[in-house]
Amino acid sequence: MQEELCTFLAIPSVSTDPAHYPDCRRAAEWLGEHLEQLRCAVEYIGSETHPVISAVGPAVPGKPTVLVYGHYDVQPPDPLDEWDTPPFEPTVRDGNVFARGATDDKGQVFAIVKAFEAVRADRAGAGTGAGAGAGAPPVNVRFLIEGQEETGSDVLSELLDREPERVEADAVLVSDTPYYAPGWPAVETGLRGICYGEITVRTAKSDLHSGLYGGAAPNAHETLVRILAGLKSANGRIRIPGLYDAVARPSKRERDGWKKLPFKERSFMRDEVGSKALTGLLRYPVLERLWALPTLDIHGISGGFTGEGAKTVIPAQASAKLSLRLVPNLTYKKVARQLTRAVKALAPKYADVKIDFIHGADPVLVDTDSRPFELIDQAFREVEGRDATRTRSGGSIPIVSELGKAGAPVILSGIGLPDDRLHAPNEKINLEQVWKGVRVFGRFFQLMSGNG
Ligand code: BES
Ligand code: MN
Ligand code: MN
Repeated sequence: MQEELCTFLAIPSVSTDPAHYPDCRRAAEWLGEHLEQLRCAVEYIGSETHPVISAVGPAVPGKPTVLVYGHYDVQPPDPLDEWDTPPFEPTVRDGNVFARGATDDKGQVFAIVKAFEAVRADRAGAGTGAGAGAGAPPVNVRFLIEGQEETGSDVLSELLDREPERVEADAVLVSDTPYYAPGWPAVETGLRGICYGEITVRTAKSDLHSGLYGGAAPNAHETLVRILAGLKSANGRIRIPGLYDAVARPSKRERDGWKKLPFKERSFMRDEVGSKALTGLLRYPVLERLWALPTLDIHGISGGFTGEGAKTVIPAQASAKLSLRLVPNLTYKKVARQLTRAVKALAPKYADVKIDFIHGADPVLVDTDSRPFELIDQAFREVEGRDATRTRSGGSIPIVSELGKAGAPVILSGIGLPDDRLHAPNEKINLEQVWKGVRVFGRFFQLMSGNG
């Protein structure tokens, strides 16, 4: 089983990089063929290079339906020289598999597929397969596994607009998040949304000699950094008019729950963040800043001269990629308009300033008061000895708001660990977590079927 996981992880399915489009297709086919062997009806939908895999398990009449969502695409692996072993040569060390995509999300998708495999009726002592014959799972299972989660989920989103009945189910299971801490499984009650854009500033026809023109000519970089600085004050408050007015603060009950979670600000800062201080709106607790407040982060600034040595130039153009994380009541569309207005207001008359939006997602809140959540709790209790803690997460999974549109409860409950380093060098998944995931999700399928 470990070998299979490593084969899947070795495929460099980096969705954002055209050089890797064929690898995205290969990863989809690897998974699709695997699901076909488990007697699923598999289709590749919406794109040659980044297809959504739809896999429908053997019909189990009269039993509930579980929809499984996940993604086979991964983030770019750079900086490559910071990896102890190459990102697409999965390597096992100390019970962990190191590879890009190990925890986000291939290893987690793999755990659900193996859970589905493990509880079929032809396996000794598992499943009932009522009326569906040998090889039948205990419930109806449909998979929707996409290849563009890391780039905004366009293909899947269009598919669900065309065919909204694809999200009709009794529960949606998403394993793409970590435990709260080792031994502490979690069900997320909220994810932040995102609004990702790029600001471009032009101040002259072309670059200029900084001696001949410096003192009179406008500088694109200077103009850009003034605009960026104007978007947030030094104490962490985002200066976009109206932004905070809309923010819905979590209930006192929810916040009190977070205060009871084991959380050490000092070790979070030193060991996880690796910094000398934490920033943001200091009057709110850290978990509230991470889970329930909007952010504005600059991801990179380019333009001008950054090569070896020195060059005396006044850059004519500069650009910055940035994003806001969104919390309940802030929508991608609305915030994109607010940000555009704020940037225009900060732009000096002499500069051409434009902003393009690259992708976005609305935030989600999940009500965990229904039967499927009791069952995932029971599955975790049996395997891990503890119910899933209710937390939120600061990350985004763009399609989640659409997965719940037909009313199915969306269970955001993954098997990663907080130190998995997703999106970073030396990403890993702990193998013990994968095997636990196989048991937990397998139990969940059985419990959904009524096999308490
Ligand atoms: N699996 C993550 C999101 C995540 C991680 C949520 C941990 C909660 C806890 C997902 O693959 C991801 O990285 N999403 C992107 C979305 C974006 C690229 C549209 C993100 O959050 O940056
Ligand atoms: Mn993910
Ligand atoms: Mn990711």
